[in-house]
Amino acid sequence: PTTESNALRTPIVAVLGHVDHGKTTLLDKIRGSAVSEGEAGAITQHIGATAVPLETVSQMAGSLVKPEDFDLPGLLFIDTPGHHSFSTLRSRGGALADIAIVVVDVNDGFQPQTIEALDILKRTGTPFVVAANKIDTTPGWNPNEGSPIQGTYEDQSDNARQRLDQNLYEIIGNLSDEGFSADLYWRVQNFQKNVGVVPLSAMTGEGIPDLLAVLMGLSQRYMKEEMAVDVAGPGAGTVLEVKEERGFGATVDVVLYDGSVREDDTIVVGGVNGPIVTEVRALLQPRPNAEIRTEKRFDKVEEVAAAAGIKIAAPDLDDAMAGAPIRVVRDRSVEAVIEDVESE
Ligand code: GTP
Ligand code: MG
Repeated sequence: PTTESNALRTPIVAVLGHVDHGKTTLLDKIRGSAVSEGEAGAITQHIGATAVPLETVSQMAGSLVKPEDFDLPGLLFIDTPGHHSFSTLRSRGGALADIAIVVVDVNDGFQPQTIEALDILKRTGTPFVVAANKIDTTPGWNPNEGSPIQGTYEDQSDNARQRLDQNLYEIIGNLSDEGFSADLYWRVQNFQKNVGVVPLSAMTGEGIPDLLAVLMGLSQRYMKEEMAVDVAGPGAGTVLEVKEERGFGATVDVVLYDGSVREDDTIVVGGVNGPIVTEVRALLQPRPNAEIRTEKRFDKVEEVAAAAGIKIAAPDLDDAMAGAPIRVVRDRSVEAVIEDVESE
């Protein structure tokens, strides 16, 4: 199957924030997985990627996201580590993003890597929303599994509501100290000028419908032009990890952010000893809603279009480098593409 050139590209959504504030758990809730529970000390150590189809988004969001209102194929979520030693990975994740979610624990508030995340987004000019996570830990909280925020908020005691409000206003104040005019998302008219804060719980799912509605709205409304690119053109991506796979040897996990990759395409990949020119032997795609970082079963496909997380098997990838660019050559000259990869 050849990708139609008028298809919209899937927006890339990076999830950033301080260690333990709940980034992986939030993605687990959205995609119906338990990746965080399998991590040593619940510490994420690599960038992950998960394609969440529009269908899943609208199932999670209920009446807040009606699939017929959108022509985006879904969202590609990029998980990043919050531990301070992984700042390179956070920058890399931030650089890939079309939009971002900054996750802040409502009780713990702003922390060093929260501010680092905001600095990355400032530098790259990436629009973002703030997920004020763990609202279920507010003393006296009465959880409503999967509920939109308004319903569950009204269902709380005055005391619990006041505690939450205090924490939320502190976050809004901290955002303002960092130079962002922010407010609770339902009060935001223009998401390009103001940052929306979405109170939620990655554990109980409360407020996640709201987050998904804001993300889809932002993407559809402000990104449509950016997403209307030629997804059938020669692919461009970033290597996340180099991994040995049984039967394939060294493979690269890639976030493809532009164009497409096909079986038998000639590709150029940044390597420790300079660019590697090789030919795609197999394209291995994680199933929908699967995290590429932990996925064991992949579907072999003939072509993949951006944005996507994809495992590429090809000869000579042993010296490929995490963070390096990867480019499909197609009808361009190999020399020009090598230069392009060297200059990144
Ligand atoms: P790093 O990737 O290491 O930066 O951490 P993270 O931001 O991905 O945090 P993670 O999702 O691993 O969650 C850290 C801990 O917080 C885990 O024990 C989660 O179960 C817990 N947690 C996350 N979200 C919530 C929430 O909404 N409510 C409660 N009660 N606990 C949560
Ligand atoms: Mg994590």
